[in-house]
This record gives sequence, structure tokens and C-alpha cells, in this order.
Amino acid sequence: MNRKLFYLPSHEVQLYGEENLTYGSLTYKGLCSLVDIIKTYIQGHVYLFDLGCGDGWLIGEIQDMIEGSVCEGVEISQHRIDLQKNDVAIWQGDMLKEDFRWYNWLHANNLCLEDSIAEQLEKKITEEFKGCYISYRKGRNIDFLRRANLLGEFDVEATWGVHTIYLYDMI
Ligand SMILES: C[S@@+](CC[C@H](N)C(=O)[O-])C[C@H]1O[C@@H](n2cnc3c(N)ncnc32)[C@H](O)[C@@H]1O
Repeated sequence: MNRKLFYLPSHEVQLYGEENLTYGSLTYKGLCSLVDIIKTYIQGHVYLFDLGCGDGWLIGEIQDMIEGSVCEGVEISQHRIDLQKNDVAIWQGDMLKEDFRWYNWLHANNLCLEDSIAEQLEKKITEEFKGCYISYRKGRNIDFLRRANLLGEFDVEATWGVHTIYLYDMI
């Protein structure tokens, strides 16, 4: 992982908060597990949106490993976007202001988001998204839990250790 991802300009930390900007990703082994999970549940083409995509490394790899898939991401830190190397579409913005209806897969490494933001994200997904949603924390919002069908829980290797991710089908 590029160490520069961790050294953020102070104005970004002031604007968005240290907790929300916490960085971590899957290891290469974790990435392979994630790709296997996606392949198991694919129906048709994968059009995946990463909510907080960092430099786009993860979605670049997923796009290369799953034939015909298209992966895009939004990231709040311009500093991290400027470190992009992979050939995927990523842009600066707030995930809570994006339109999720275009996609059939969502990925959110949402573990370190402030609780209030994680809650708003769950609510938004409940209201506008249909498809598979990979989350790094278990769903809590009551409306979300009514609509979401938990397809599985999987232990994957992340940069901070083995972590359980949750795959939901939003129906
Ligand atoms: C834990 S990192 C995950 C990076 C990447 N998705 C991965 O799994 O390799 C979470 C990222 O979400 C970004 N982020 C936090 N809040 C955000 C928001 N409201 N909108 C967009 N990105 C956000 C952070 O800056 C950080 O880069």
C-alpha cells in the first residue's frame, strides 16, 4: 500500500474529520477472497461503485479480475485521488451525495466512518439501491434490516487483520 495515502493535508483533516479519513484496505489475499465472493453471486454484468475508494487500487484490481465488470469510485480526499495509478473512473465527492441507482454492486469499507454517517449511508442505500451491497460493518438501521437479505458473512484478510464482511442483497 502506498504510504502517501496516510499523510493527509491538514485542511482535509479539518474539513472531513480524522475518523472518517482513516485508511485501510484488503491485502492481496483479501482481494482474491472478495473477488471469489463476487463471482459466486454475480448475475449478469457487475457495475460496482466503491464508496470511499481511496486511490482506486481495490476497484482497479476487481475490474481486472472480473471479466466484463466496470468499477467506479468516489473519494472525499483529493490527496488520495491524486495518488491514483489504476485505470478506473474515480472522482472527488461525498458518497452521501452520489446516486447509487446506476449500479448493481456497492462496496463500502465503512468500518471507521463516524456512526452518524454510517447510519445515513445505510438509510440512503435502503431508499435508493437495488443489488448486492458489501459492508464492513453489520447493518443496524431498522428499515435497512427490513429490506436487506443477508447472503453471507465472510472472513477476509485486511491490512489491519482478519475482518468479517457482510454481503447483503437489497431487494
Ligand atoms: C477505509 S478506506 C477504504 C478505501 C478503499 N475503498 C479500499 O477498501 O481499499 C475509506 C475511504 O473512505 C473515504 N471517505 C470517508 N468519508 C467519505 C465520504 N463521505 N465520501 C467519500 N469518501 C469518503 C476516506 O477518505 C477513505 O479513503
